[in-house]
Amino acid sequence: MKKNYKKEIESRKTFAIISHPDAGKTTITEKFLLFGGAIQMAGAVKAKRSSQHARSDWMAIEKERGISVSTSVMKFFYNNAEITLLDTPGHEDFSEDTYRVLTAVDSALMVIDSAKGVETQTRKLFEICRLRDIPIITFINKLDREGLPALELLEIIEKDLALECCPFTWPIGMGKLFKGVYHLKKNQLHLFSSTHHGKIKEGVIINGLDDPLLDQNLDKQADELREDIELINEASHPFNLDHFERGLQTPVFFGSAINNFGVKELLDSFLDLAPTPQPRDCKERKVDPYEKNFSGFTFKIQANMDPAHRDRIAFLRVCSGKYTRGMKLSHMRSNKKIATRNAITFLAQERAVTEEAFAGDIIGIPNHGTIKIGDTFTEGEKLNFLGIPNFAPENFWRVKLLEPMKSKSLQVGLKQLAEEGTLQLFQRLNTSDYIIGVVGTLQFEVVVARLRAEYKIEGRAEPTTFNAARWIKADDPKKMEQFKSKNTHNLALDAENHLTYLAKSDWDINRTQKDWPDIRFLKYVEHS
Ligand code: G4P
Repeated sequence: MKKNYKKEIESRKTFAIISHPDAGKTTITEKFLLFGGAIQMAGAVKAKRSSQHARSDWMAIEKERGISVSTSVMKFFYNNAEITLLDTPGHEDFSEDTYRVLTAVDSALMVIDSAKGVETQTRKLFEICRLRDIPIITFINKLDREGLPALELLEIIEKDLALECCPFTWPIGMGKLFKGVYHLKKNQLHLFSSTHHGKIKEGVIINGLDDPLLDQNLDKQADELREDIELINEASHPFNLDHFERGLQTPVFFGSAINNFGVKELLDSFLDLAPTPQPRDCKERKVDPYEKNFSGFTFKIQANMDPAHRDRIAFLRVCSGKYTRGMKLSHMRSNKKIATRNAITFLAQERAVTEEAFAGDIIGIPNHGTIKIGDTFTEGEKLNFLGIPNFAPENFWRVKLLEPMKSKSLQVGLKQLAEEGTLQLFQRLNTSDYIIGVVGTLQFEVVVARLRAEYKIEGRAEPTTFNAARWIKADDPKKMEQFKSKNTHNLALDAENHLTYLAKSDWDINRTQKDWPDIRFLKYVEHS
């Protein structure tokens, strides 16, 4: 390994922000980009999003709804670090893509609204992080508003997520009484000034709890702070790097993103703490990021960015070695070499042709449908990366054809969309019925819009009675046969012929699971 490879890899941090909608993810992203010099003014991220919608019409639905269906990747630079931030879309545009993004990162930043605590979407995304032991750093936001007491927030995280909390900063008051954050590791207090308004400005800094400036500035709150710090130092978990790296402990920071307060402390500590590109498991062996030969896997396909060309972009996470422009990569699934002259790097401000990329980087490879989610690329070695699962859908519809003669085209269209990862397709055992499963309901609109635009099929998405699914497995084939004969009505095969149990609710699944202890009900399965 050449010395500069090492330096390149060690300067890279690839992470995603996990949060419930409205917790402040966009606001924090924007502040990070401001610190990195990638944008010059607050408001640019949202403005950029909307101008992109106006410019590109690759998916009419994005334009109509003014939301981002696709996962975006943003690379920026800060203090000699090359940071890649992967977006995890929220609300109804929540999809499998959102989950799969987490297979391509080395750490996550969890943003929590101080008034709300741990909310549903955060919990779902956290579950995926836990599955992969992803280290998580927590930012508790909106301290400038009345919220839950800081200690209670830590208790909620510890209890709800079974995640040890190690506060790195501590808030003084909240809402109107919010005075700043005390950095427990540096023994420094940053006084809050709500006039920051997105500008980068150092506030007053007080060194240590004995500094006379503390009483002068905080009055009664100074003694409260001393008591809090004493309590926190005694009661909270000391920082444990091993626990953090295994996703069992989270360093916690407090602040107010909109006021750009506590965000720099967060970003600086994040860069110290967040792991550099990590080794990844393949079916054959573990791949180390410092290996000389290139390897990587795709975790997302974005289709039809340019409708005139029917092109697709495969998002590839580089896992080892170096990519250089024009390099021929071995595509494991097709056993063919693919030339990559036009791979794209997603900088925060623009897209650029990738000249070179190292472990931790995300590059986009244009293709015409040859690349699928979970595909491995190498310089020739036979490898297959693991850990890019299918996630059990939570919404199930069927497509009602408005022109019955087109059922063959519908099948083709649905199968292709399933291959791309836009939807999951289930064929029930006792009927010829196809059921579409997705994680977020907005995907149904995407499916109907794409069937119309790309396959000339007019259809309508109709709800089914199913609301939950699990892939099922059993060690004893006899037990499986018994289960199948008693539950045919609820069984279906997915696009890769995995047997799936469809149910009205999670409650039904739990009950069936109790009745059939020899059957395993899985929320995730690996792509074959
Ligand atoms: P999201 O991406 O997680 O969905 O959240 P986003 O950053 O868009 O923030 C959601 C709302 O919360 C925004 O208000 C934003 O201004 C506000 N917000 C973010 N951080 C803070 C904070 O530290 N304190 C307070 N008080 N509010 C915060 P909005 O009214 O929905 O949007 P906008 O009109 O500000 O754009």
